[in-house]
This record gives sequence, C-alpha cells and structure tokens, in this order.
Amino acid sequence: LDDPAVDPFEVAQAAAHDIARLSGVAHHDIAVTLGSGWGRAAELIGEETASFPATEVTGFSKPALEGHVGTLRSVRTPSGKNVLVIGARTHYYEGHGVRRVVHSVRTAAATGATTMILTNGAGGIRETWKPGQPVLISDHINLTADSPLEGATFVDLTDLYSSRLREIARGIDPSLDEGVYCQFRGPHYETPAEVQMAKTIGGHIVGMSTALEAIAARQAGMEILGFSLITNLAAGIQQTPLSHAEVLEAGRDAEPVISALLARVIGAL
Ligand code: 6GU
Repeated sequence: LDDPAVDPFEVAQAAAHDIARLSGVAHHDIAVTLGSGWGRAAELIGEETASFPATEVTGFSKPALEGHVGTLRSVRTPSGKNVLVIGARTHYYEGHGVRRVVHSVRTAAATGATTMILTNGAGGIRETWKPGQPVLISDHINLTADSPLEGATFVDLTDLYSSRLREIARGIDPSLDEGVYCQFRGPHYETPAEVQMAKTIGGHIVGMSTALEAIAARQAGMEILGFSLITNLAAGIQQTPLSHAEVLEAGRDAEPVISALLARVIGAL
C-alpha cells in the first residue's frame, strides 16, 4: 500500500479473498468498524462464525494503541445477514498514509458489504451532551487536508451519512441526537480555540477518525451510518483537562448500552 504504483483496490481485493478463506464466509452484507467504547457490540450482533487477527489479512497494519483490538470477526445476525466486524483501525495520526487508513473500508466493500457502519469515541462540543452518550453523525468536516481519493476522482458527498439509515437508528432509540463530526489530524486533542473554530464552522463533535473512511466508503458505493460515543466534552467546553484514560473509562462504562444499541440497529437493517 505504501508503493504508489500499487493499486489500493487490488490490495483490498486480495484482503477480501483472505477474509473469505479465514472466515469461510464468501460474502458479507454489512461491515462495522468498532471505535473506542464500541468493542463489545460484536457479541450482541449475532453468532460469531470466525475471528482472526487483522494482521493475517493483506494490507492491515499492526494495532498502534491499547484499546484498539486488532481483530476481525464474521458474525451472522438472527435474520441471516453476514456482518464483518472490524476491530482494527489505522488512524491518520499514525502517519502511515491515508491508503492504510481506508484499507479496511475498501476491503469491506470488496467482501460485498453495501452498508458501512463507522463508530468512534469523540469529544462533544454541545454543553448539553454527557460523557457516555451516543450520537448519530449527520455530516462531517474533514480537517485533515487529505483525501483517500487519488487523482481526478470527483465524488459527491451529499447525504454521506445516510438519512435513511439515521431514520432506522432513531426508530430504535428516538432519543438519539445527531451532529456534525470534525475530523482533526490529532493525536493531540484540540486547543479550546480550535474547538471554538470547529463550533463556528458548524461542528458538534471532534475526533480523529471516520471522515476519511466515510469518503472511501462513498467512493465504493456503500451506504454509511456513523455513530460517535461522546467520551468527554471537548477542550474549553469541559473545564477539566482531557486524558486518554478518561476517554477509555467513559467508553468502558457506556459499552454495554451502546453495544446493545448498535446490535439492535444492525438487526433492523
Ligand atoms: Cl476532545 N478530540 C478529539 N480529536 N478526539 C477525541 C476527543 C477530543 N475526545 C475523545 N476523542
């Protein structure tokens, strides 16, 4: 993937073949990337048919961070849909390039998945939001100044986070709020001034993932659903300093509730 002469879609095809071989499942219908706090959803989605380290699949990098388990799973829902559960994420801030960031999404598309569910742990800008609260992503602002698209590939991003899928999610939990996700490069959290900028330009959620992945999923023709777990309020919105430990703790506390929500939404697709 690091070689510009290599076609990233061919690498994704090879990865999809690895997944078919390792899982015994030839076709997946839905893919879901589990971000911080969402890790236990796999158990609730359905019956696990296979589980294997992401590093056994072509193009997947080693997990960089504690709390980001590098496991891929194939899970069958009660209604008979095959879900590829991606518990491995390469973040843009790791500096391995945007191709590696979106490889899992392109691989998911190559396995046949037509729905991509992207989840993350993120900071909230709305004062009324509480740590541990899940929110729907309604749109994004990509502040990485990068794109997974190479060359003159002009892709429309209207209704990127499918209003149809958001409706289905709100059918499961009518209290779900939604907001615009701003992807910052990280790995540092934003300054309070940057959080104010994000708010001024129309953002409600700040994080370090998802937007680039959503663009790649749209390019691949997938329908996208995005969820953020608000693990903390963003810098300057909350008065106490931010810590990764706090983010992980909020994720752990919220995990049973948001995992059940995600499983129910997937069951309704
Ligand atoms: Cl406040 N910012 C970013 N970029 N990512 C986060 C976060 C904040 N809280 C959790 N993840």
